[in-house]
Amino acid sequence: MSKLVELRDVTKIYEIGDEIRVKALQGASLTVDKREMVSIMGPSGCGKSTLLNMIGGLDNPTSGQVIIDGVDITNMNEGELASFRGERIGFIFQSYNLVPTLTALENVELPMIFAEKYSTKEISERAADMLGLVGLGERLHHRPNQLSGGQQQRVAIARALANEPSIIIADEPTGNIDRETGLKIIRFFQHLNKTLGQTFILVTHDPDIARVSQRILHMLDGKITSRPARTSIRPSKQILLEEQRQLMLAELKWLENSLARLEESKANLTPVLYDQSKTEYARRLDSLDQAILALNNSELMKK
Ligand SMILES: Nc1ncnc2c1ncn2[C@@H]1O[C@H](COP(=O)(O)OP(=O)(O)OP(=O)(O)O)[C@@H](O)[C@H]1O
Ligand SMILES: [Mg+2]
Repeated sequence: MSKLVELRDVTKIYEIGDEIRVKALQGASLTVDKREMVSIMGPSGCGKSTLLNMIGGLDNPTSGQVIIDGVDITNMNEGELASFRGERIGFIFQSYNLVPTLTALENVELPMIFAEKYSTKEISERAADMLGLVGLGERLHHRPNQLSGGQQQRVAIARALANEPSIIIADEPTGNIDRETGLKIIRFFQHLNKTLGQTFILVTHDPDIARVSQRILHMLDGKITSRPARTSIRPSKQILLEEQRQLMLAELKWLENSLARLEESKANLTPVLYDQSKTEYARRLDSLDQAILALNNSELMKK
């Protein structure tokens, strides 16, 4: 097996203003071989998306080394990175990054038009085929705002696969898709991986999705760890109740503020709108008061 991706002791520090420095990666090292399918798991904020950005050449690391397909891309500038990524890497982003003014079909056609690898006829046929494969054959001419979140995600998947890139980097590709469709798509990835030998690197929170890949890597605090992070510690019932109470109190405050703002803008509102809003806020305040009371009572009962 030959190495396709190699990260050596990569760090990434984000600076926000003069004061805040976020250490998103703190010495991450990994290798992925050609034709591998690897899943990355880890708690929110541990650096998974940042790691994918490094692998995909979307950003430079603060230190360390990134070698993709034998090329050291660590210090490439934006232009060099863009041409390096070219047709080689397909991205499925956590936020779908679709072009809002284009239809689903046109969004999928776009990277193929840039790649100048297929004829015009092939481009539209391939785009329609890819959308069919992700279950959107009936939505070719819808624009992103006319599609649900999960459907937009599936357009993004079709777009990433359209050019047959050698590496597919997918950030929670099935995060907004129901389980059954999600697993179907992952099995489709698996099929492409086996038949075309495309390399897949995916981030997922779903162990069933991760299990479809050959290898699971775990991340914690900006590093790859050999074991899963111990995040499955169940919060006690007490903590959950307290969290619930805090949320309710926050909502209570928000409703009270909204009511105050409504009174302030009364002069600018039609009487009907004012009355409707006031009734709605009052109704929600009332039910929230009752819920908080019930929570407090259930606590008292236990003591
Ligand atoms: N552009 C940025 N500027 C500043 N801080 C950032 C930036 N991008 C990410 N971070 C911070 O870096 C850390 C790692 O973020 P990252 O997006 O890689 O996490 P993640 O593991 O993908 O989380 P999730 O599972 O929630 O998507 C977080 O603390 C985040 O707030
Ligand atoms: Mg992320």
